[in-house]
Amino acid sequence: MFRETQVGQHTITSDSTIDPSICTTASLKDSAQRVEEQEGRNGLQGHVMANTIKHIPVMLEEVMTWLNPQANSMIVDATLGLGGHAEAIIKKIAPQGRLVAIDRDARSLQMAKKRLSAYAQRCHFVQGDFKELDSILRELGITGVDGILLDLGLSSFQLEDARRGFSFQVEGPLDMRMDESYPLSAFDLVNSLSEGELSSILRNYGEERWHNRIARSIVRQRSEHPIETTKDLKEIILRAVPYRLGIDKIHPATRTFQALRIAVNQELETLRIMLDKSIDVLKPGGRIGVIAFHSLEDRIVKHQFLAWAKSGRMKVMTKKPLRPTEGERQRNPRSRSARLRIVERIA
Ligand SMILES: C[S@@+](CC[C@H](N)C(=O)[O-])C[C@H]1O[C@@H](n2cnc3c(N)ncnc32)[C@H](O)[C@@H]1O
Repeated sequence: MFRETQVGQHTITSDSTIDPSICTTASLKDSAQRVEEQEGRNGLQGHVMANTIKHIPVMLEEVMTWLNPQANSMIVDATLGLGGHAEAIIKKIAPQGRLVAIDRDARSLQMAKKRLSAYAQRCHFVQGDFKELDSILRELGITGVDGILLDLGLSSFQLEDARRGFSFQVEGPLDMRMDESYPLSAFDLVNSLSEGELSSILRNYGEERWHNRIARSIVRQRSEHPIETTKDLKEIILRAVPYRLGIDKIHPATRTFQALRIAVNQELETLRIMLDKSIDVLKPGGRIGVIAFHSLEDRIVKHQFLAWAKSGRMKVMTKKPLRPTEGERQRNPRSRSARLRIVERIA
């Protein structure tokens, strides 16, 4: 017997044959399933499956030590991705512990559900935005949790999938939506915002020093024809700014792509809302861990943690953010910019 409930923008399908007080399984009959069906029809399953193993969870050991999930506790992984951190957590909180596993990306959720199928009885899979944490938990009948993990940004699975348009290193449509049901994509922003609006997105979300030049070039180029692909945009940027191959540390398109992705997914805004709500659902003694990958999001986390500490409700466990070890940086270059901060609720 399945019960469907609408929570904000997501549908939670609960199997009511399972005793909800012990192990309500919230699975999804929504875009995750539609993607699954579509992939099957298009013969893309193999492609998606091939990507499953590509995302290596960042700072896993540090997360497990500092988030410190206990047997039988209730943990939220608000950025499930491909379930790397989630798998370690669900094992650690056995035998009765439960995990609320949230991701706004239907494809990732689908992959993670398969990976964690052996633990499905103790998992609530939710496709949705973590900014709706309060309503997601309310819907599941959960009043307090012992830990919350946020591993921000994108997974390699998303980044490397050309169809998603996140990366200038593979050619694909200018999309960049984590939730593909969201109405606005990078194509819409790039082809319809004014030069001034584009310029401020590049400045504010990419800290791009050439924001004016790039915005001007985009507007000039699109007056001839729409900018359709990641390659089109990359070439416009390369023509607009000076680039010293082999000298400049990052590719000139890096900051523009980051900025557009943040704008499309409203990443900073959702992070602020999520943090603001998280303290009220966290039980005393519970911890929140956040892994940030760039200074804009890390700044938000740091200031929120300090404000909580000042109010006397939380204790900051990591005076300075933890960084990946040299060994991890070598093994997984994606981890290089990661910063992990942890707080504990004390009142
Ligand atoms: C870095 S990945 C997480 C990887 C994961 N920890 C693992 O080990 O596989 C970040 C994930 O967070 C998701 N995400 C980002 N912002 C989100 C939001 N506002 N709400 C829900 N999920 C979000 C992305 O779709 C992505 O799958």
